[in-house]
Amino acid sequence: MLSSDIDHLLTTSDPTAIDELYAEACRLRDAAYGRQVFVRGLIEITNHCGNDCLYCGIRRSNTCRRYRLTKEQILDCCRQGHELGIRTFVLQGGEDAWMTDERVADIVKSIRSQYPDCAITLSLGERGYDSFCRLREAGADRYLLRHETADRDHYARLHPTEMSFDHRMQCLRDLRELGYQVGCGFMVGSPFQTIETIKKDLAFIADFKPEMVGIGPFIPAEGTPFADRKAGSIEMTLRLLAIIRLLLPKVLLPATTALGTLHPKGRELAIAAGANVVMPNLSPQDTRALYSIYNNKLSTGSEAAESIADIRARLKAIGMDTPVSRGDFKA
Ligand code: 5AD
Repeated sequence: MLSSDIDHLLTTSDPTAIDELYAEACRLRDAAYGRQVFVRGLIEITNHCGNDCLYCGIRRSNTCRRYRLTKEQILDCCRQGHELGIRTFVLQGGEDAWMTDERVADIVKSIRSQYPDCAITLSLGERGYDSFCRLREAGADRYLLRHETADRDHYARLHPTEMSFDHRMQCLRDLRELGYQVGCGFMVGSPFQTIETIKKDLAFIADFKPEMVGIGPFIPAEGTPFADRKAGSIEMTLRLLAIIRLLLPKVLLPATTALGTLHPKGRELAIAAGANVVMPNLSPQDTRALYSIYNNKLSTGSEAAESIADIRARLKAIGMDTPVSRGDFKA
């Protein structure tokens, strides 16, 4: 796509142009995957974090109650998820030093052997090449690591000085080289974000060609330096989902929890803009509220079974199937 086309799509206020953008995104998605939305079971394994990202509610400096799940608890979440037809488990957490390669590899191996028909996705932040290699050998298939912003100066305004833009980008290249299906992504409406930084994000995504892209609105998190900032816009998030579908027709694109948090129909709106993945929470009831990366994060009191049934019903109502499938990237 021409950069002048992207400019126009990012800035136009013509409702017909925007509707056409969404329609084209859906056509491309349906041509690649059919009317299917893939379901991932999200397991938030730890909210301990050694990083101090300025936007994040579980940053090191925030005084919140910390937890980590035991291996038994994690396997129990997988068991419940598998019974509900989930065939991808996403193990997400802060950068927790306790989660050594040995411990994570042990958990991954157990899931791999108990659920050979499932994909295992990790989302545990930055690690070294050897660590990614060990976890890949243990059986992990995919890794999610949002790049957060492709603009170096913007990156520096969102993160403490000890964090490095170059290292983050290196992690993404390492993951790719190790044969992971890789997901990058960014928040929409993060502090200091501009149309120019968004254009860099889109150029990076078009060039790196990740298998997955996670984007959701920034939502202020209590106790953080950005607690009083305003949330990102739903419209801009939807527009970006659609543009990313145009750039990478086969990409796996989640309707994120952040969008569901800002709007009761956020997930459906995302699907109508070209998204094709949902990630219901399989974490235990009592730890969900503690994984508060931003305010009012959607975590219904409902059980995994109930929320998965609810998501499936809502998607069915808008004409989308939710197959019992790993939902791998189509090369
Ligand atoms: N609002 C929205 N998204 C956030 N994330 C972290 N903090 C926030 C926030 N306040 C996103 C980051 C991170 C992912 C796990 O959650 O992009 O990579």
